[in-house]
Formats: sequence, structure tokens, C-alpha cells
Amino acid sequence: MRLNVNGTPREIDVEEDMPLLWVLRDELGITGVKYGCGAGLCGACTVHLDGVAVRSCQTFAADAEGTEITTIEGLGTPEALHALQAAWIAHQVAQCGYCQSGQIMQAADLLSTTPAPTDADIDAAMSGNLCRCGTYPRIRAAIHDAAR
Ligand code: FES
Repeated sequence: MRLNVNGTPREIDVEEDMPLLWVLRDELGITGVKYGCGAGLCGACTVHLDGVAVRSCQTFAADAEGTEITTIEGLGTPEALHALQAAWIAHQVAQCGYCQSGQIMQAADLLSTTPAPTDADIDAAMSGNLCRCGTYPRIRAAIHDAAR
């Protein structure tokens, strides 16, 4: 199977119904994507397929063929952070940090379609991404900052 991940073609030998989450983490060593619930309920595993946020635990590897897969590692670079990554740092959003890559990937999808989101837009878009540390107020502030 051939997958395009963060701009790089990768060739892997996996079952077609292997969840993309495990392909990324276990086969390709891309560990920014996290396993939370494995049931599509928490958002920790969020990545983009052609710029659209998906739950990689609920996406078969075969369904990602022919798309551009982007993980947190491919959203920006250390030299040129994505605006959301810079805002996350400025607002010190992360507490334990486990869910944050999924939060940022979900927020990036929101800003790509809604460049100046309201609080209600943010709450609606981010409601499926859970944070046990309760960093929601800082997530909202960072998204507003990145949108400026
Ligand atoms: Fe995929 Fe929770 S691990 S939604």
C-alpha cells in the first residue's frame, strides 16, 4: 500500500482494514498522533486527509490511499510553526499534553473553513475533542489568537 504522509510517499505492507492510527504510529513511527479511546469518541487521534480532520482510529488504511495525510508533525516545521502551534505555545495551552495534537489538528480544520470563528463556532467544532485536564478556555483563546 502506498500512502502520502506529511508530503512524503511511504510504502507499507499492512492489511487494508488496519486503522490508520496504527499504521502511522506502529508502522511509520509517527507518534504525534495519539491513541485515546479507539472508538471515535475523544479526538486524540485526529489527523487530516486532504486537509479535512478525521479520526484515524476509525479510518481504514486503505481509505487513506490517494489522499494527502497530514499529522501534527507535518502541520508546521520547527522553523516555521503553524499559527496554531505558535498560539498554543504563547497561551501555554497544554497541561499533560496528551490530547493536544488532536486538538490542534481539529482547530486547523476549523480555521481552514472558518477563518474568524466565534466562540460558538469553536465550541461546535471542538466539541468532539476531549481534554481531561480541562484546557478548553486556553484552547479557545489560542484559536482566536491564531485566527488574527
Ligand atoms: Fe480515535 Fe479516541 S482514539 S477518537
